[in-house]
Amino acid sequence: MISKKMEKALNDQLNFEMYSAYVYLAMSAHCESKGLKGFANWFNVQYQEEMMHAMKFYNFILDQSAEVELETVKKPKKDYDTLLSIFEETLLHEREVTKRIYKLVDLALDERDHGTNAFLQWFVTEQVEEESSVNQIIDKLRLVQGNGNGIFLLDAELATRVFTPPANTAA
Ligand code: FEO
Repeated sequence: MISKKMEKALNDQLNFEMYSAYVYLAMSAHCESKGLKGFANWFNVQYQEEMMHAMKFYNFILDQSAEVELETVKKPKKDYDTLLSIFEETLLHEREVTKRIYKLVDLALDERDHGTNAFLQWFVTEQVEEESSVNQIIDKLRLVQGNGNGIFLLDAELATRVFTPPANTAA
């Protein structure tokens, strides 16, 4: 059982995870349109991960006998600049997600809601990994400085990323 305040906060995050999925799908479409299939694949996997995150919140809210309230998902941006700027935006977006998850943890602790706190710990760990993997790509993009051969190799590397669905999205 969760409080009404927590129900609202978790629904807000469910919506933000959906928006995150939308942002990365738009980035994937942009990369695909530039012939960068590996980068497009990386963002498509990112999109699928965000949908999985959204479903974790969805399932958790329902498991608490609370109400899921779906909202309008904000339109993501359509035009992007360089690959480096796209990944810098991705990092800023993930930092925003991290802030939001920490705020949810703060609320869970304030309310002595140990169940929600335990649920959120998966996201705390996930955000460390998310920021780290984006930082690694930014480092590589800075190294190649837009060089065609470097971008070609990085595109091939990012083409290998696969989405592995968890056995249980509520877990
Ligand atoms: Fe759901 Fe990338 O945070």
